[in-house]
Amino acid sequence: MKHCEGCNGCKIDDKLVKIVDKYRGVDGGIISALHEVQDTYGYISNISQKYLSKELNVPMSEIYGIITFYSRFSLTPKGKYNVQVCIGTACYVKGADKVLARFKEKLAIEEGKTTEDGKFSLEAVRCIGACGLAPAIVINEEVYGKVDDKKVDELIEKYSKM
Ligand code: FES
Repeated sequence: MKHCEGCNGCKIDDKLVKIVDKYRGVDGGIISALHEVQDTYGYISNISQKYLSKELNVPMSEIYGIITFYSRFSLTPKGKYNVQVCIGTACYVKGADKVLARFKEKLAIEEGKTTEDGKFSLEAVRCIGACGLAPAIVINEEVYGKVDDKKVDELIEKYSKM
């Protein structure tokens, strides 16, 4: 644990220190560092952003721009199971809006949110490369195709028990 002089003595976790040390002085290292922070913590906290900014010499505005541009990055903690509903064209014409609506209804959360028990988070994303299976979704790394209301219910039940 170390203190970050640049941000009112915030405590910086050792894992974050290691990630940043790895990319210090590396051209374009900020993207790789953000990926590692996302994988390690499940999101990129404000403290992490400030520490990355100061140590890798990248403006906060640029870091924020990168995080919000790529759907893979999150500013808030994601659930244990991150549900990504594809709303790309192929999926949309096959009813992706209904799939998204069903998840919202059953999980009682909006896009970009996480259930109170921390189990599920929900996102709408563009083309996940499974257009032939439209409408398709991804839960963590697992792709599911031809999703309808029944499948949504089954998947929620399955993951709730895991
Ligand atoms: S548009 Fe949904 S997988 Fe391509």
